[in-house]
Amino acid sequence: MNETMKQIDVIASAKYVDKNKITGSTPVVIDVLRATSVMVTAFEYGVKEIIPVMSPEEAFQIKSSKTDVILGGERSAEIIPGFDYDNSPFSYMNSSVKGKTLVMTTTNGTSAIKAVEHAGDVLIASFLNAGEVINRLKDFDRITLVCSGTNGNYTIEDGLCAGYIIDGLMQLSEVNLTDFAHLVHSFYQNSKNDIRKAASVAKHYKVLEQKGFKRDLEYCFKTDESIIVPVCKDGVITKKQADL
Ligand code: MLT
Repeated sequence: MNETMKQIDVIASAKYVDKNKITGSTPVVIDVLRATSVMVTAFEYGVKEIIPVMSPEEAFQIKSSKTDVILGGERSAEIIPGFDYDNSPFSYMNSSVKGKTLVMTTTNGTSAIKAVEHAGDVLIASFLNAGEVINRLKDFDRITLVCSGTNGNYTIEDGLCAGYIIDGLMQLSEVNLTDFAHLVHSFYQNSKNDIRKAASVAKHYKVLEQKGFKRDLEYCFKTDESIIVPVCKDGVITKKQADL
């Protein structure tokens, strides 16, 4: 193995994060449907910062002790009782989110972030900002793409986004891929002519379709729409570059 090559691993879901293995690499969390797509969109519409938390109770506690806080997220893809916003990117496309601290809890995406934040700055990726994520990763030697998954299981849309990022990095430098990284990259290559169609067999895609979130499913597969790369540092996500 050539040690100067960029090392890229992919984790199948938040449940499979091995904290020791992540340490020393740059973690990139992907939750195409829909948490990381929401985060990128919320920053596009002027949210000041996002605080990811594990439970609604934690979110309510932060809101009671801090001003200009809005609560967003989901359980079973629906709004959490007492929250201001659900987990649809369209809910954040309005001027009332501007300048606010968004405290967010979702079933998979925010827990994936919490699972890897010990490793240092965590990049937040979706198809919406994937091109810029690739740019930002050019100078990093060890990268772990963390697919948030669905309820502990691998989900196709996150793997496709990981494959897209790997493909972009392969065009910039030599890479050394783990077996799973090879697998998601080759699935991406076989599916790149119609990413959404490839993702449409996924369980969570179908759940969102049945719940009537059709426009979310169109929007979340738009590629390279944003140059914002949110970064989680010390428990807070901002669109600043932090130490990266
Ligand atoms: C999650 O983090 O579990 C997802 O974003 C769920 C959803 O699509 O609302």
